[in-house]
Amino acid sequence: PTPAVVLMSGRGSNLDAIVRAAIPGLDIRAVISNRPDAGGLALARDHGLHAEVVDASGFATREAFDAALDRAVDAFSPRLVVLAGFMRILAADFVRKHAGRMLNIHPSLLPSFTGLATHRRAIEAGVRLHGATVHFVTPELDAGPIVIQAAVPVLPDDDESTLAARVLAQEHRIYPQAVRWFVAGRLSLQDGRVCLNGATAPEGGF
Ligand code: GAR
Repeated sequence: PTPAVVLMSGRGSNLDAIVRAAIPGLDIRAVISNRPDAGGLALARDHGLHAEVVDASGFATREAFDAALDRAVDAFSPRLVVLAGFMRILAADFVRKHAGRMLNIHPSLLPSFTGLATHRRAIEAGVRLHGATVHFVTPELDAGPIVIQAAVPVLPDDDESTLAARVLAQEHRIYPQAVRWFVAGRLSLQDGRVCLNGATAPEGGF
């Protein structure tokens, strides 16, 4: 099995999608939130997972928080770190340590719309296609090598929430897919490039 730690900050719907996908060989040893009020904590416990909080407000400095998060993750010796709505920028040392073993999902078609408020910015920009991206995490924010993307149309009547919902449905499809590939040993990072071995399209396409 592949021991994994999931980091999140909020509602946890991507965590939920990954758990429900029942990925063979995935052993989620812990779910860690930086926010004590994250809805995903209860959801994780409902799934019988170990869930804990490393609360940034409990630490005097950014470095102290980073060190505590590093210790909390290391305690579970993960071979995979899954960022599922983790809304804090990770320390570069932490990212380097987990290079090639840490995935993130971002609610846009990267490299467009890095950062926050992606759905509002997509509507404001007038793009006709928007979507979600799973990528390996590198120290530069939202800039790591892309594993899988899903595109959705931006419709004339969309507001931020209708567009977010359309994208989220795709997130729940592509994130479990990427994790499944990784756990099956088919997905890796080789010299900074994504390597996907023997990929066959799942029903409904990638
Ligand atoms: C998701 O839409 C995810 O793509 C986004 O946060 C949401 C978390 O939802 N992540 C980022 O914006 C990362 N910068 P969830 O808690 O229901 O999975």
